[in-house]
Amino acid sequence: MTTTDIDQAALDQVDFALDSLPGQRLHDVLHAYRARGPVQPTRFLTIPSFVITGHAALLEAFKDVARFPPHLMYQATIEKAAGKTFISMEDPQHLLFRKLATPAFRSRAVASYEETGLRELALELVEKIDASREFDLMPSFVSRFPYLVITRLLGLPRDREDEFHEWALQMLQIGQDPEAATRAGEELTSFLAPVVEARRHAPRNDVISELLAANVEGRALTDEEIYSHVRLLFPTGGETTHGSLGNLLYALLGHEGSWNRVGNDRSLIPGAVDEGLRWETSIAVLPRLSCGKDIEFCGVDIPANSWVLFAIAGANHDPAVFENPDAFEIGRSTQDALTFGRGVKACPGMHLTRRNMSVALDVLLDRFPTLKLVAPDTAIPERSTLRCPTTLRVSA
Ligand code: HEM
Repeated sequence: MTTTDIDQAALDQVDFALDSLPGQRLHDVLHAYRARGPVQPTRFLTIPSFVITGHAALLEAFKDVARFPPHLMYQATIEKAAGKTFISMEDPQHLLFRKLATPAFRSRAVASYEETGLRELALELVEKIDASREFDLMPSFVSRFPYLVITRLLGLPRDREDEFHEWALQMLQIGQDPEAATRAGEELTSFLAPVVEARRHAPRNDVISELLAANVEGRALTDEEIYSHVRLLFPTGGETTHGSLGNLLYALLGHEGSWNRVGNDRSLIPGAVDEGLRWETSIAVLPRLSCGKDIEFCGVDIPANSWVLFAIAGANHDPAVFENPDAFEIGRSTQDALTFGRGVKACPGMHLTRRNMSVALDVLLDRFPTLKLVAPDTAIPERSTLRCPTTLRVSA
């Protein structure tokens, strides 16, 4: 890829919130920006912004909480729908609440679920698929699996996952439709309140019971804090995993021979998952707000309170770190990928996500060993902030 592959005038018009940037187009755009320099002016929702595309610069920016305070963007967005949670708090409060909410990510309930429960859930979904004719993997499996996992981990009633999915999507629309987002948060809470009350009197092996028992330095979570942290899990954990699983399936089905290769040698699954997460991650671009003072970063002047886009996909395809970065190569080293962020906000759900994706892939390979994409052109991942295919039409 060279800068001449992208029309420089077109590059000046890119808007990471409004453009669909399908497939390789996103990566060409990010390469072209990087060729100009690791930090460049761009647009986000028509607002003049900056994009960081170089791996070294992005690593530095993730760690630089003074110039790029990580909580500000979340205060302006998800906090308004989910309520106050550690994602929008500043340290040291952020760290305390992150520890208190840890059971939602790593606890006995999560560990025992990973052993047995995930496979059962994946099987539950594949068994409902009518594979005698073409079908779409997105609505039948990919969009539903992460929500099934979260609701079951929390110990919420069965068969309501579609509603949770709908509420999560509405909460994520806080910028575009604040009323619907707030209403979705309230509806989810009215659903949660009786469950929390029941678990207080009769704890079970689930995450809500563990959140009720959590205590760090003598501090426990109040009911309202439990509600808000549970509300947070749906938009942060559901849509990200849904997107990355869709992208992984697109990668495997779109690269000839890959589905069969992994199907015949399941020891390749962890490497395929990690490479999928590097090659096409659902949070391709993570918006941040810069601090309240004018700053300079990598030689670029950034005015106070600017949108600064952390292009994780740019870092994950930086040729200075990954050889032949646009190629999907199962088994390559991915430890430098910035898919789950770095520093104080590094994703607490990364372990669960990898397990989810591995189990889902294993079950799909068992059930559909000769799966094929029917219309590859309609399966190309799109968008930047929540990047994924819209449809994955396949035949078994
Ligand atoms: C493929 C799936 C996922 C991707 C790509 C992803 C990516 C990320 C990234 C890049 C960050 C850092 C954000 C920042 O620096 O501002 C992050 C943080 C976070 N993630 Fe994930 N994530 C995924 C799955 C999950 C899951 C399954 C959960 C919950 C069960 C989750 C919950 C969170 C939370 C709560 C934070 C904020 C951490 C903090 O404020 O300290 N994520 N994630």
